[in-house]
Amino acid sequence: MTSPESPRKPIMVGNWKMNMNHLEAIAYVQKLAFGVSDKDLDRTEVAVLPPFTDLRSVQTLKEADKLKILFGAQDVSAHKDGPYTGEISASMLAKLKVDMVLVGHSERRAYHHEDDDLINAKIGEILKNSLRPLLAVGETLPIRQAGDAMSHVIAQLSGCLKGVSTKQTDGLIVAYEPVWAIGTGEVASPEDAQQMCLAIREWLSSRFSSTVAEQTRVLYGGSVKASNVKELMNQPDVDGALVGGACLDPAEFLRIIRWPDQL
Ligand code: 13P
Repeated sequence: MTSPESPRKPIMVGNWKMNMNHLEAIAYVQKLAFGVSDKDLDRTEVAVLPPFTDLRSVQTLKEADKLKILFGAQDVSAHKDGPYTGEISASMLAKLKVDMVLVGHSERRAYHHEDDDLINAKIGEILKNSLRPLLAVGETLPIRQAGDAMSHVIAQLSGCLKGVSTKQTDGLIVAYEPVWAIGTGEVASPEDAQQMCLAIREWLSSRFSSTVAEQTRVLYGGSVKASNVKELMNQPDVDGALVGGACLDPAEFLRIIRWPDQL
């Protein structure tokens, strides 16, 4: 995101995972909103992904205080409605006016056995409800060590976005999250992040169009914190970060959002 002429506005997304109840969510968003200035939001979009039980509280606060912070869900059902105990549909999320829906996170893939077909069905539901998918992809350490990281990520993209039309890519965001960098403190090198984000963009260009490739934001995720965000954001094809652990402290998330001010 080095060029000021870039058609893509950077975005910092905080994935809370299974942290914070709805009362803590309200306190967090108030603190974040108080800290984020109009100048920050002119430069960078800011989004939080709270657990489902917090979404209504965050929505109410956002609407009451006219906050410009975006919010989204961490997952969605692949089904429209019906007897799917414990599931949350895309139309329920649309009613809450979420700004995006994360799908394909490696923790969903690993602990809930989600594969590209299921993620593709979820994206179908997201698009049917005019919501924006935030699609996470990334390789495990053995795949990287075998030299197959790029082909693995491209196969994930192609499976998860099967049947998606060029027009439907309007609000799409892709996040490259190497599994070995998530929650480990082991961040990908800026060069590795750049190489994969560029490969994702090139794939978007060949699968959809050069305009889609130019407009779609590609984020990096995996042990991002204030001390390493700037070198990642200095890469031309890294348009933002999907932040886990470090976003749970609003002060640290603010420092990440303010990466352009770092010396
Ligand atoms: P960490 O920032 O804790 O490594 O998590 C990254 C992540 O999984 C965001 O979705």
